[in-house]
Amino acid sequence: MATKEGVLAALKASDDYVSGEWISETLGVSRMAVNKAIRALQAGGYEIEAVNRLGYRLLSGPDLLTKEEIAAYLKEERMERVLCLSTTPSTNLKLSELAYEGAPDGQVVIADEQTKGRGRRGRGFVSPKGKGIYLSYLMRRKETPEAVSEITAWTAAAMIRAIESCLSARVSVKWVNDLIMNRKKIAGILTELSVESESRQIQSLIIGIGINVNEEREEFPEELQTMAGSILSETGQQVKRAELAAQMIRALDKMNRDFPLQKEEYLRLYRERSLILGESISLSGAEMTGEPVKALAINEDFSLKIQYENSGRTEDIRSGEVSVRGLYGYI
Ligand code: BTN
Repeated sequence: MATKEGVLAALKASDDYVSGEWISETLGVSRMAVNKAIRALQAGGYEIEAVNRLGYRLLSGPDLLTKEEIAAYLKEERMERVLCLSTTPSTNLKLSELAYEGAPDGQVVIADEQTKGRGRRGRGFVSPKGKGIYLSYLMRRKETPEAVSEITAWTAAAMIRAIESCLSARVSVKWVNDLIMNRKKIAGILTELSVESESRQIQSLIIGIGINVNEEREEFPEELQTMAGSILSETGQQVKRAELAAQMIRALDKMNRDFPLQKEEYLRLYRERSLILGESISLSGAEMTGEPVKALAINEDFSLKIQYENSGRTEDIRSGEVSVRGLYGYI
């Protein structure tokens, strides 16, 4: 561990003052090196109080999404499969390159900024620096694509749990993969598969999650302002991104172990938090007749049961995008 990280870890481990002498002995470095590390941390935005004969005390830290910050919440061995980048075009893209080079199951890529964040249906995902969490997770699976088609919905349920463990607010889901707070989209999920064409076996399954954490409402591009929100703008609560990122990794590791046998827990939560049931909806990207449609239920396989309001005919929908009147300003 570098001296700066060691000093930070020592300060974080105590609510009280920590003497410079103790830190230098514990880390096996000189007092001068400790002083230098303290100055570097202060320059990086950490508020550290220094009192004669008592030592140093950490008062507050910046909301960084670095490996050192996330490491405060996860075991050292878990951190071996976590790559943190300050900027990258897309964490899904970076992770697919690592997967091709042989990255292990559970490998994570996190970025503080994405310059070409990818969303569903070829859209982009706005990913400004210092504001959100852009995280991709690799699942090594030998199944066929059909066998993992539910994974995006499982991930939505896992992320509801992760977010709610860091704040007191309720997160909902708009089928199939938008997380909603206060009727605004605060997070999206994009699952990307690479499949060997002959065997139909999955080579890599990458789950990408983008959460808006710290944006003020007016910071979103104008065309997104009616529909997009962040945890801060919708709840007024400040969440430490490093802590939330660690909770996301924990929840994804659990889901990776649970899939596919422990479905009940994920399905129950998904159904319970589903916003669109009973609503009149419109669907895009699916075969539609133009007849008014109601969302009836989430089926066992997370597909959506809809009912045509004129004929009463029902149908199960596996893909497409739902719009609900009144939900983020009707889209
Ligand atoms: C959507 O709502 O359309 C899905 C958005 C998914 C965004 C995440 S951010 C991390 C990962 N990397 C990407 O380029 N996209 C996903």
